[in-house]
Amino acid sequence: MTIHIGAAPGDIAETVLMPGDPYRARWAAETFLTDARLVNEVRGMLGFTGTYKGERVTIQGSGMGMPSLSIYANELISQYNVQSLIRIGSCGGMQEHVAVRDVIIAMSASTITSPSSGIFREVNYAPTANFDLLAAAVAAAKAKGTKTHVGGIYSSDVFYSERPDLDEQMVRHGILGVEMEAAELYTLASRHGRRALAILTVSDHLQTGEALPAEDREKTFGDMVEIALDAAFA
Ligand code: ADE
Repeated sequence: MTIHIGAAPGDIAETVLMPGDPYRARWAAETFLTDARLVNEVRGMLGFTGTYKGERVTIQGSGMGMPSLSIYANELISQYNVQSLIRIGSCGGMQEHVAVRDVIIAMSASTITSPSSGIFREVNYAPTANFDLLAAAVAAAKAKGTKTHVGGIYSSDVFYSERPDLDEQMVRHGILGVEMEAAELYTLASRHGRRALAILTVSDHLQTGEALPAEDREKTFGDMVEIALDAAFA
C-alpha cells in the first residue's frame, strides 16, 4: 500500500491504463476486462485489476492535471513495479483536420510547465512516447478502422485558457490537441525506464466549438480503450 493507492502488493498488473476519471476506470474494467475486481478506492480514485485476452491489466484513475497524475504514476512505478502506463483520456482538438470523435495518439507532449520542469532548469525537455507502444497503438487503431492522428499534443495546466496567443502558436506548430496529463506521464516513464503512451479521444474542438454529445462518449471512449489494450499486449 502507498499513500494514495490501497492495493496490496501484487494486486496491480505490470500494465496500467490510466483514465483521468475514476468512473471511466470502472466502466472500462466492467466492459472490457474479465474477472475485474476493485483494488483501490482511496479518495475515490478507483482502480481495478482483471484480464484482457488472458493478460493481466489494471485500470487506475489518475485524476485531472499533471500534479494528480504524477502522484499515481510515481507510486505505480516505484511501489508496484508497473512497466507500461497508458493514458486513455479526452482532449480538445486544435487542427481543422482533427474532428470531434477522432483519436489522437500522442508522439510528444509540449508544456509550459509540469511538476518536473523544476529539475530541467534551462533545458526544454521533449516528453516523448514509447515507440513500441506508439507503433502498436497505430496498428491497433488501423485494424479497428478508427480515424486516428499521430503527432504532438500540448499538456496544459488549465482547462480554461486565458492565453489565446499561446493556443494560436500551438495550432501554427501543428499541435493536434490539448489535454492536461501526458507530458508528466512521459517524463516520469522516461526517468524510470518504463513505457508510456497517451491515446486521446477528441471531446471538444477549440476552433469549431463543437463538443461530443454525452450519448456518444461511451462508444468513442470504448474504441480508445480497445486500442490501448491491444497495443499493450501486441
Ligand atoms: N481535455 C478535453 N478537452 C480539453 C481542453 N479543451 N483543454 C484541456 N484539456 C482538455
